[in-house]
Amino acid sequence: MADNSSAGVAPGPAPWWSGAVGYEVYIRSFADSTGDGVGDLRGMEAHLDHIAWLGARIVWITPFMPSPGFDHGYDVSDYCDIDPAHGTLDDFRRLVDRAHELDLRVLVDLVPNHTSSAHPWFVDAISSIDSAHRDWYHWADPAPDGGPPNNWVSHFGGPAWTLDPTSGQYYCHLFLPEQPDLNWSNPAVVEAFDDILRFWCEAGADGFRIDVAHSLRKHPDLLDNPVVRTVDPDAGPTAVFESFSHDHDLDQDDNIEIFRRWRQVTEPYGAMLVGEVNVPTPERSARYTAPGALDTVFYLRPAWADWEPATLVAMLRTMHDADPNGVSWTMNSHDTSRSVSRFGGGDLGRRRSLAATAFEFALGGVPFLYQGEELGLVDATLDPGDRADPIWTRNAGGEAGRDGSRSAMPWTPGPANGFSSGTPWLAAAERPADETVAYQRGSTEAPLHAYRALIAARDAHGDLHAAPLEWIVLERDDAAAGRRGSCAFVANLGTEPLTVDLGCVHEVVFASAPEAVAADASVVTVAPESTAYFRRLS
Ligand code: GLC
Repeated sequence: MADNSSAGVAPGPAPWWSGAVGYEVYIRSFADSTGDGVGDLRGMEAHLDHIAWLGARIVWITPFMPSPGFDHGYDVSDYCDIDPAHGTLDDFRRLVDRAHELDLRVLVDLVPNHTSSAHPWFVDAISSIDSAHRDWYHWADPAPDGGPPNNWVSHFGGPAWTLDPTSGQYYCHLFLPEQPDLNWSNPAVVEAFDDILRFWCEAGADGFRIDVAHSLRKHPDLLDNPVVRTVDPDAGPTAVFESFSHDHDLDQDDNIEIFRRWRQVTEPYGAMLVGEVNVPTPERSARYTAPGALDTVFYLRPAWADWEPATLVAMLRTMHDADPNGVSWTMNSHDTSRSVSRFGGGDLGRRRSLAATAFEFALGGVPFLYQGEELGLVDATLDPGDRADPIWTRNAGGEAGRDGSRSAMPWTPGPANGFSSGTPWLAAAERPADETVAYQRGSTEAPLHAYRALIAARDAHGDLHAAPLEWIVLERDDAAAGRRGSCAFVANLGTEPLTVDLGCVHEVVFASAPEAVAADASVVTVAPESTAYFRRLS
């Protein structure tokens, strides 16, 4: 059982994760201890001190279970073991012990929407229409024209259905054909996952990141989704997916019941449940953090967004107001282009990324950084032939895919940036010295120190995330400001300086850019594209 007794970060009834910042480790690319070019648990253990030094207190590790790797670990063939490429169960236990010594809690990434097609459940299911596991997946007869049973499409391109020629039925997969969707209306599936949750809690996990948590239940009648816009015939899979209103394949009303059950299963362990919930409105998202369900849900839209300040401000405000303490904020992830690249590249992209992230960090909940975000990394440069993401490889290059944010973590200058003594699994250009952890640790001007200072300010001034947020009315829509108890923040994402009357004298406790603000004042002026935090003095 996970020992959460000493994990309280706030006194009283607040959960252990209250006030914490999370950090996402993309295991394949974090640190390789064996020289095979693939990141592993031992390599990660050796670098946990970096995450602790940064100030994060929760670490989410992307899937490390046995997997054929068609979606780089998100196609699991055994939920209760470790892929040999990433280590062993003993390595996991060691990692958790070391993490706890460093006051870090560990979230396991669980993938319940689909298994690998190599999972014994699916191998049995496809073996015969009468097999014991047939109903663990979604099977349907062809449409009258012999085509797929409905118009659902895969996130990764093409129909969400593949024909099994032996039985003449189609099976459903919202991702690759090698990732068949489980049938969450079957109680046997529900019970199997109870055991999987207990297994990882017993192994020491402090909680779970739940992959595509919004998509587990499907409409029982497998109805067509309404088309909301037409797309060009050569549109990439994401544009095609977004041309439907996903009324029947995603976010069904009873989906949340699954997580109420998971809460009961994991409650004795004090486990944290964080859902990847990507639904059309903040209100739909907030349903998932209703009492008795999930603790927080990722808000992914900022991690996809371009630099449009008014849009970003509206996005963050609306999400906060719908769910003031239940959001896990992101600006980056292993699924999106890095924000520095999306926001203009180089120093400009770095400045904007930090300003927007600091805005998120003032909005409560549990924000997450993605490995390398603290270094201000841009997307890696890859030759088209080296790209590995199925979004790219399965669509004849029609959509760039996610490889740019998945290259090796740059620890040191030089070969493979210290990630591996061998050749990294994803061939990307080596990062320059000033983008490495080793260099940035020694350079107080580097992004690494700014992100560390941001977390430290959030930790030192608990009101910044815990006190009720009262928005300050501004005349601009590309900026936002708020008071939270003894603290205040001003996020100016626009191109003009912003002057705000905070009502009494404050000191600056964090500024995302050096010239961001005048200190010790009640009327403050915050520089363009920067965010500052304040503490009341009078
Ligand atoms: C989630 C993961 C992504 C994966 C997909 C299918 O969105 O973050 O990497 O491809 O689920 O499991």
